[in-house]
Amino acid sequence: MVYTNKEWTTIHQKIINKVESQLTLYKDGFPDGVYDNSTYKLCDCFSWTCGFWPAMLFLAYKNTKKPETLSVLRQFEKKQNEGFNTPEKLHHDVGFMWYLTSAQDYNLTGFKEAKVNAMNAAAILASRFNPIGGYLRAWNDDSDDDHHMAGWAIIDCMINLELLYWASEISKDARFANIANAHADSTIKNFVRPDGTTCHIVAYNPSTGAVEGVLKGQGYSADSAWSRGMSWAAYGFIKAYGYTGNEKYKEISQLVIKRFLELLGDGNVPPCDFFQPDEPHYLDSSAGAVVACALLDNAKHCPEQKDYFINEAKKLLAVLTEKCADFDVDTQGILRHSTRLYHGDGKDCTLIYGDYYYMEAIDKLVEML
Ligand code: GLY
Repeated sequence: MVYTNKEWTTIHQKIINKVESQLTLYKDGFPDGVYDNSTYKLCDCFSWTCGFWPAMLFLAYKNTKKPETLSVLRQFEKKQNEGFNTPEKLHHDVGFMWYLTSAQDYNLTGFKEAKVNAMNAAAILASRFNPIGGYLRAWNDDSDDDHHMAGWAIIDCMINLELLYWASEISKDARFANIANAHADSTIKNFVRPDGTTCHIVAYNPSTGAVEGVLKGQGYSADSAWSRGMSWAAYGFIKAYGYTGNEKYKEISQLVIKRFLELLGDGNVPPCDFFQPDEPHYLDSSAGAVVACALLDNAKHCPEQKDYFINEAKKLLAVLTEKCADFDVDTQGILRHSTRLYHGDGKDCTLIYGDYYYMEAIDKLVEML
């Protein structure tokens, strides 16, 4: 299906309508995913996914300027900031969590409190940098006597770097960006394979910085190609290019996108892992939504290939719209057929980050039409 500009605008409006019609539905936590029944499971302010629903409110507000949408967004920001009272429970995903909410709120409205909170989150993220390995530590250990994750970094962190680049621009202090650049450079070296696929987890020795191993994470195996991991790389590197102008970052984004699209083929919803067995065939629409965002940012940064990138983004978004999107205001969640991880719970479900990046991609596309 090829949509006209008017149809893309209608799809955009349907998403915004659905979000704004559910403005006050989620009160006791942050929407995380629609798993076993038809309602969103809610998460707390420490979950890496807690920023996505408020981020959808932000995108809606950016378009409609309805004061009630801003007011609910601010209530969610306040709830999210409760996480600062227990900082030991926060992790590298403060980048996703505070960039898409408070930093974006400040960028659009100039709300000072939002700037302070996003800067706090950036300082927490910067404190996770291990200079000897040149990486940001991903997760925390499970208990006080557990020290096995100090050396773990993950491909997803490429998106978290945006908060650091933003913090450098806001504070006029290059330290945040220097950390982001060091992490991006180590990711090129240790996560991105020459064929454009990526691994999920690299275990560094936290004392020497040496790479000790590559771990499976959320894909099928340590040497497979987890589609959402590739999408984080595709989008994270083009964002890093946007802040730094470093051509290498753009090249890596395009290398990963090229491989992603080759493996995907035309007309398909991405599988959870490109190297998973034929059966069972787990889909991950969320990976497609993130890659659509990456394609559109590449269009912005490559005037000579603008039409190509926009066209690929439209093709991918058309598939997601036809096969996965649910605009019914009486149901919860928007983008069906996502998978949280290959080995574990959360298959063929609706994930809040699938919803968010689908909305972000359509929002970006409509701005470019
Ligand atoms: N950042 C975790 C995920 O992509 O599922």
